Amino acid sequence: MTPVLEVDGLAVDYENGVRALDGATLTVSAGETVGIVGESGSGKSTLGAAVGGLLPSSARITSGAVRVDGAEVHRLRPKALRALRRDRLGFVFQEPIGSLDPTMRVGKQVALALRGRGGDVLSHLDRVRLSDPARVARAYPHQLSGGMAQRVAIAMAMACEPEILVADEPTAALDAQIRDDVLDVIFSLAAAAGTTILWLSHDLPAVGKRCSRIAVMYGGRVVESGTAAGVFGAPRHPYTAALVAAVPGAAARGERLTSIPGQPPVLTGPADGCAFAPRCPDALDLCGSRPPLVVAGDREVLCHRATVAVGR
Ligand SMILES: Nc1ncnc2c1ncn2[C@@H]1O[C@H](COP(=O)(O)OP(=O)(O)O)[C@@H](O)[C@H]1O
Ligand SMILES: [Mg+2]
Repeated sequence: MTPVLEVDGLAVDYENGVRALDGATLTVSAGETVGIVGESGSGKSTLGAAVGGLLPSSARITSGAVRVDGAEVHRLRPKALRALRRDRLGFVFQEPIGSLDPTMRVGKQVALALRGRGGDVLSHLDRVRLSDPARVARAYPHQLSGGMAQRVAIAMAMACEPEILVADEPTAALDAQIRDDVLDVIFSLAAAAGTTILWLSHDLPAVGKRCSRIAVMYGGRVVESGTAAGVFGAPRHPYTAALVAAVPGAAARGERLTSIPGQPPVLTGPADGCAFAPRCPDALDLCGSRPPLVVAGDREVLCHRATVAVGR
């Protein structure tokens, strides 16, 4: 079976010299719910944008590839790329207003997103749990609260039952008390449509609760991936372990809250070795060279320590 998404050694540089992705690799099967976590600047949004060929013109892919259903996204002609985005991909971003056209009534925008497919506009607004779909349909985006606008953006992203939904911090700008409800909407619509979710987030507990798989990013690479229970319950990469220890709940029993000492890197070219080595409590001399991918069962770890542990 062809995986629905393959990110294969992807490296992306921005015009200002920043290397946002430095050989990121991730393979996703149909129907998986994948949480992509990592500190701000680790490359999550760049990876999410690359999936849809949505990188800004200031970004350049210097190596690697992204394939959706085996088709290399960045080699598609404009017409085929538009068709891919329209028919098979959905995107939800942190700021819902950015996904909506300020000059057009909401109902008309949802109708356009449906492109004549089944279901009427009001039922699609009802499915995202908007309490008065008819009123929302008549409104312009600026007349909606952030939570309502995000529900509309979700209705539009899911209108054509995409194969992959990329949700980039979809609740980060929303009030805490509605976040869970918005996530319920995303996950239940995706489950009903068989949509694969890539949820980019730095909220580890939320991601751990809902996702089947976790990919941890650091310095523009996926440094660990595996089941949510495995990765968060028994991290193999020292960065994952540090992230888990830094979760506020981890200090619930009166322990001191650990934060990870040092700053995440801003790369301006390929990292010579492991990008986490300068902050890593377990670094070896070896870590000055790039770590190989170590695969053990469903776990993939990019760490010299993991190589030593499995005796290679
Ligand atoms: N449009 C851009 N122009 C220049 N640098 C960028 C741009 N977008 C992101 N970056 C840089 O690329 C790196 C990765 O950023 P990003 O993909 O946004 O990570 P995350 O979503 O994990 O915070 C960061 O160092 C960030 O400052
Ligand atoms: Mg981001």
